[in-house]
Amino acid sequence: MPTRKFYLIILCLILLSGISSLALADADAGKEKSALCAGCHGADGISLVDEIPNLAGQKEAYIIKVLKDYRSGTRKNPMMSSIAQSLDDTDILDLAAFFSNL
Ligand code: HEC
Repeated sequence: MPTRKFYLIILCLILLSGISSLALADADAGKEKSALCAGCHGADGISLVDEIPNLAGQKEAYIIKVLKDYRSGTRKNPMMSSIAQSLDDTDILDLAAFFSNL
């Protein structure tokens, strides 16, 4: 006979899974959007070129900050600045979730 504690644990698991699916950043969507980045940063976030940084495992908050800096012009780079212009806030969160989880 399951105890009350058992039901409480199940209830917590259901609540937790609901919360995680409500999270704003969507790494799966980020994976699709990362097609735009793969040519330079690599499909797996490991770049093939010395002048281009790896993104795999980079801190999520750092990726978000840097992409917003490129977009606003606080940080400038001929390649990244124009790409960042095409990203909205959701794109940035999704991409950061994807690359930081690699
Ligand atoms: C045309 C090649 C190119 C493409 C495409 C590209 N990047 Fe970059 N990216 C670069 C280069 C070069 C740098 C280093 C720029 C610098 O020195 O500021 C960079 C830097 C970055 C950085 C900062 C890394 C660090 O360690 O400071 C992030 C984050 C980043 N790119 C994310 C992205 C994302 C996300 C995409 C796709 C939406 C993307 N890039 C597409 C070339 C590219």
